[in-house]
Amino acid sequence: MADPLRPLRLVNFATRLVSIRLETAPAYSTGARLVWLLEILKLTEIEPPTPNPQSPISNPHPPRSTWLEIDTDALAGNVRALRAIVGSDRQLFAVVKANAYGHGAEIVGPAALAAGADRLAVATLGEAAVLRQVGVTAPILLLGYTPGYLGEELLGWQLAATLCDIETARQWSAVAVAAGKRIPVHVKVDTGMHRLGLASTNVPGFFFQLAELPGLFVEGIYTHFSTADEADQRYAQRQLKTFTDLLAVLSLQGQRPPLAHAANSAAILSLPESHLDAVRSGISLYGLHPSPEVPLPDAFRPVLSWKARIAQVKMLERGEPVSYGNTWRSPRLSTVAILPVGYADGFPRAPRTWQSVLINGQSAPIVGRVCMDMTVVDVTAICEAGEIVRAGDEVVLIGRQGAAAISAEEVARRTETINYEVTSRLMARLPRIVVSS
Ligand SMILES: Cc1ncc(COP(=O)(O)O)c(C=O)c1O
Repeated sequence: MADPLRPLRLVNFATRLVSIRLETAPAYSTGARLVWLLEILKLTEIEPPTPNPQSPISNPHPPRSTWLEIDTDALAGNVRALRAIVGSDRQLFAVVKANAYGHGAEIVGPAALAAGADRLAVATLGEAAVLRQVGVTAPILLLGYTPGYLGEELLGWQLAATLCDIETARQWSAVAVAAGKRIPVHVKVDTGMHRLGLASTNVPGFFFQLAELPGLFVEGIYTHFSTADEADQRYAQRQLKTFTDLLAVLSLQGQRPPLAHAANSAAILSLPESHLDAVRSGISLYGLHPSPEVPLPDAFRPVLSWKARIAQVKMLERGEPVSYGNTWRSPRLSTVAILPVGYADGFPRAPRTWQSVLINGQSAPIVGRVCMDMTVVDVTAICEAGEIVRAGDEVVLIGRQGAAAISAEEVARRTETINYEVTSRLMARLPRIVVSS
């Protein structure tokens, strides 16, 4: 195979040769020239590229002093718990969109498949390509909107895509026919969420139109619930009825696709009749609760912890300000710790912050504004309790430390959002480290 670094090597070689020529003026001995010559040969070897800090690593020393720990044993346990609920004859989609809800798709995708998931689902073509590049060969479904002009890419990466309009169907079919292949599609039906999807009444006619397109293989049909995570399941049941009535019509037409699916995590737990041929599990895979009304059973465990090490500890006189805008001033002689974590990691600055982190198993409140890459926390109370707080000490932002814990659900409560958003916005620049429990 051609060496991709060859042009660089040649430039490097030439540059060094010129510099050595200049240095090896006649005054230098033959021995010295020989040493330089050997030096050239050694130096023309370009340093091997350093590992990508965003790729899955199992190095005990992460490339940053803040990192996510991804417990693949907990993940495997969650997949098994889901399998126990849905049974062995249903297909289990592991939903790993948005970088596996922030957990790292390159880790979670293969690990979920190894633990027993049958297929993966993502939102975008780019997310699927990342999985193919790390060697995933299992079927991948794109749940999001994929434009008609991406037919060649669907074929190239061997992906199944969500379909809900005839124009896109025609574009994809034409590309597939030209390549002598077929693109698997899952028709998305809007049964009441009124997001992406074809109105259920239009679906039977749509299937007759699809039958005219030889480049498509209608592998699946699906819908999505808007309220399966609520205590009142009546709307979800109505959506399910609309969907199953439609499936009956398609069966009569002889056009029911092999995979009909509807259930997300909440419906997997709360609406067993929605399991159909396949289920799509996202949040439960990560051991996070679909909602307070539809919590996970005890068999599930959180997969992600977020940790950091204190960068610096300093003392402040009474009245000294902290961070941009001097919005917080030390109310007394205080000790603060600087954390190498900021809003560019997914640690929000506004409108609500994380409020506190764990140090020595105790709560350390954030003081002053959260910056892009740094945050200051007050450790005065911890020090006054007789504990020593030093640079290098471990900080927990999500997870356990001693008897204390901060869950993604607790962060969601503090930041007035949902656990889905808390982990999904954990940025790619945070190293993800595989751990086993
Ligand atoms: C179409 C679709 N299916 C399944 C899921 C997974 O949902 P959950 O994470 O609640 O299991 C999602 C997530 O948003 C989705 O958009």
